[in-house]
Amino acid sequence: MLNNKKIVLGVCGSIAAYKSAILTRLLIKSGAEVKIILTPDAHNFITPLTLSTLSKNPVLSEYSNSKTGQWNNHVELAHWADVILIAPITANTLAKMANGICDNLLLATYFSAKCKTILAPAMDLEMYKHDTVTTNLNRLLDHGNLIIPAETGELASGLTGEGRMAEPEHIHAFIESFFLTPKPLFGLKAMVSAGPTYEKIDPVRFLGNHSSGKMGIAIANALHENGAQVSLIIGPTHETDICNGIEIVSVTTAHEMHKACISLATKSNIVVMSAAVADYTPKHASLNKLKKSADELCIELVKTPDILKELGEHKPKDQILVGFALETENGIEHAKNKLKSKNLDFIVLNSLEDEGAGFKTDTNKITIIDSLNQIQSFDLKSKKAVANDIVIKITELAHAK
Ligand code: CTP
Repeated sequence: MLNNKKIVLGVCGSIAAYKSAILTRLLIKSGAEVKIILTPDAHNFITPLTLSTLSKNPVLSEYSNSKTGQWNNHVELAHWADVILIAPITANTLAKMANGICDNLLLATYFSAKCKTILAPAMDLEMYKHDTVTTNLNRLLDHGNLIIPAETGELASGLTGEGRMAEPEHIHAFIESFFLTPKPLFGLKAMVSAGPTYEKIDPVRFLGNHSSGKMGIAIANALHENGAQVSLIIGPTHETDICNGIEIVSVTTAHEMHKACISLATKSNIVVMSAAVADYTPKHASLNKLKKSADELCIELVKTPDILKELGEHKPKDQILVGFALETENGIEHAKNKLKSKNLDFIVLNSLEDEGAGFKTDTNKITIIDSLNQIQSFDLKSKKAVANDIVIKITELAHAK
């Protein structure tokens, strides 16, 4: 519930502005007080009358009221707010915010605020991916703003992809979780990899492994429930039990997983590599189906990048980096070597020697070894409970950093 929470809702000139009516209704229904500012261009997409009716407050846009001549005091408005939510925010307003340009009431209010600002971008496909937009978003993150990532789907241009403003229900859930503190990982970004990778042999065959993705999904869900903003990079899986609000990046091959992890990890405070990444991939994938001929068939394999090792080599100072080790013998020794060689904060060892541990099962039995060489062994538990143990360890480290 958002009882008595004071929200300034900024609406920019994007087709997604129509969703701000639904968002306003959801915020008001859960008890919030909402004051709305439209940028000049937002008037082309939604009327002040709609939003003032729903918010039960006058909608502001100009520095002063043209009828009464009264000043719309942006400083007072900024200090009134418990949070400023800008949904949708366009590339234009993002750029202005990131560069200190203040040419309308919404921007003046943002620059006068002491509270958190939460941004829900809405853009077309290429625009959202554009380097400049990414730079501006990162800059605003560095300035302490929170971002509700755009979602994937049909875009107004007719293209399909990432760029749609998050659904009003998701934005509303984000705002609720923002106020429902204390969530120990709130404000932190997490990246989790999960599942197997498939390495193409020919159009109908691949090299894979038995990973189901269940453990990684459980960790992503537990991080999300503890307030982190989570991106889940996931290989081929049928598992669908992923919390709403988690950003999902689907990949197939080790190279795709590598690309996605490297790009997301730099922006993450917490990185958990639980994916079972293939160590080798066919040197050449056949364009056509391989025909059965000789009695023996050799497929030449080449090493894939060790993603976790690379992440360890470029680990930002305050990042928590967690790896997994799946072993069949000498578990502790192998895990300790991986912990060190991959520069991890801790490693989660699961051994296939333990019954009920490893792939496909709903349970797991883990041992955590940290960089101080402390070893913690846990009983056989559901993967959800195991995920909570891992997230408790992450939370301890996050609060110690
Ligand atoms: N890993 C990775 N990239 C790879 C292989 C593994 O990022 N190409 C990560 C896994 O996600 C896991 C950790 O490295 O967090 C350990 O994986 P594991 O398969 O146990 O070990 P390897 O380093 O691949 O070594 P080996 O297979 O020889 O045991």
